[in-house]
Amino acid sequence: MSTSRKKIAAGNWKMNTTLPEAQELFEAIVRMLPDVSHSTSVVVAPPYPFIPVASKLFRNQNNLFMAAQNCSSEEMGAFTGEVSAEMLRSLAVQYVILGHSERRKYFNETGDVIYRKLALSLKYSLRPICCVGESLKQREAGEQKDVVREQLEETAFMFDARQVGKIVIAYEPVWAIGTGKTATPEQAQDMHAHIRTLLTDRYGKEAAEGISILYGGSCNSRNAAELFKCKDIDGGLIGGASLKAEEFIAIAQSL
Ligand code: PGA
Repeated sequence: MSTSRKKIAAGNWKMNTTLPEAQELFEAIVRMLPDVSHSTSVVVAPPYPFIPVASKLFRNQNNLFMAAQNCSSEEMGAFTGEVSAEMLRSLAVQYVILGHSERRKYFNETGDVIYRKLALSLKYSLRPICCVGESLKQREAGEQKDVVREQLEETAFMFDARQVGKIVIAYEPVWAIGTGKTATPEQAQDMHAHIRTLLTDRYGKEAAEGISILYGGSCNSRNAAELFKCKDIDGGLIGGASLKAEEFIAIAQSL
């Protein structure tokens, strides 16, 4: 991991917790935050309804940031049930997870939809965490690098160097998400280096060196340190393990 890049531990709660559970988890994270290095950004992505609750608790915490798990691909108007990038911005949300494999799989999100969400997020000054990653079938066929390149070409690579500098990329092999089957540090580093090379080819070395690339997929306090030691891994996008404050903070401490 390079010291010049932002180190990020991001917790994706997915569709978990009730309001009291969320409150307890927010409070525990705030309490344990002093145990994490100031240079590490701790990002929490609770379900939408709990964002205002956390905003109050997170105020005045320099390295604690709020994220949303999604936003609409439309800007505003008659789109029942949708939540816009502008709304999130008005709630002091700073990051938004986009293109997660669960959104691609269960909600049929295509590259074009994800691109539109990225554009709106950037317009409203949210930092997108743009997820990419191959399926098990694609890895077994040796296609993982092409798949990730294509996913990036349809999404983050649609933007110019200034805008892409605001995007965080998360490599999340689908076969590792929620399965307990983590990518080995070698597999993860190999893909992160590939992504960095693609960024360098397109935007130049300086821009590429400044972009944080997170690993996600069954990351926990036992395997985080080995993963984060790798040169091109700048942090983690944590699902299941982010639902326990001690576990999540321990991961953030490994950075
Ligand atoms: P997991 O999820 O850590 O539970 O595997 C990661 C993610 O989906 O972002």
